[in-house]
Amino acid sequence: MEINKENELSVPAKADYANWMPEEMITGTAVGAGALLTAGVIAAKKASENDSTIGKICSAVLLAGAVGCGAFSIYSVIARKAFSYDGERKLSKQIIDGIAAYVTIPDGGTALDVGCGSGALTIACAKRNPNALVVGMDHWGPEYRDFSKSVCEKNAAAENVTNVRFEQGNAVKLDYPDESFDVVTSNYVYHNIAGINKQKLLLETLRVLKKGGTFAIHDLMSKALYGDMQKFTEQLKSEGYKEVYLIDTTDKFFKSPREAKLLMLGGSTLLFGKK
Ligand SMILES: C[S@@+](CC[C@H](N)C(=O)[O-])C[C@H]1O[C@@H](n2cnc3c(N)ncnc32)[C@H](O)[C@@H]1O
Repeated sequence: MEINKENELSVPAKADYANWMPEEMITGTAVGAGALLTAGVIAAKKASENDSTIGKICSAVLLAGAVGCGAFSIYSVIARKAFSYDGERKLSKQIIDGIAAYVTIPDGGTALDVGCGSGALTIACAKRNPNALVVGMDHWGPEYRDFSKSVCEKNAAAENVTNVRFEQGNAVKLDYPDESFDVVTSNYVYHNIAGINKQKLLLETLRVLKKGGTFAIHDLMSKALYGDMQKFTEQLKSEGYKEVYLIDTTDKFFKSPREAKLLMLGGSTLLFGKK
């Protein structure tokens, strides 16, 4: 850690983009699996002593829960390793760089990265477009404790990137007027937002994009989460959008669609085009 004495800002020697799989998730599921296993074993013992059918059903449910939690815990460890910026696979970096390659901002223009987390995509886009400003926004809620505005600012400083700004906000209702940005981008954000129609979330992001501007929005766009995306692209085209593409990224940003599926990122799709 270096100390920049001029403005008292501590600038880390290296950016730390943290991990999409929080450590607490691994600990939580492992502890949950252990607790369910203990409860299941105790319940099974009591049920066999009392020859209780209900007791046996309860113990089976508890043990099944332990297996489920344990499996998720193992998946979490594997995913965290694959996502890590310091690991061998560096999948997060590969995905971020893959999306940023689609982002071209006109000189003097402004882009918005919705749900910027630790600033990885914001900074990657800013690096590729040094004559533009990239605004990263996020609600920085409790579900990703390692992501914050100050983490983003430190990462930008560590990367020597100054054409960025970070702001708190909510993707559900963006605090920007219609048609404010030349580019809008986002990565793996909307599937996290429960109880809200995902196509509505996309329209909210597209609302703040200027006519003629570019969108590159990446998420798990399965039918179950997003509904009929083909229909959605047709709707955008009928509203006058110049280009709309749905790009399957499971064979582009990943080694194979199988890898994406194993990491529970099947359905990864880039909605790309021009308004
Ligand atoms: C998986 S992380 C991805 C972070 C970043 N886009 C990246 O690629 O590294 C999901 C992000 O979505 C953000 N998020 C979730 N719901 C949000 C909301 N309603 N408004 C803004 N950001 C939100 C979370 O805080 C988190 O930073």
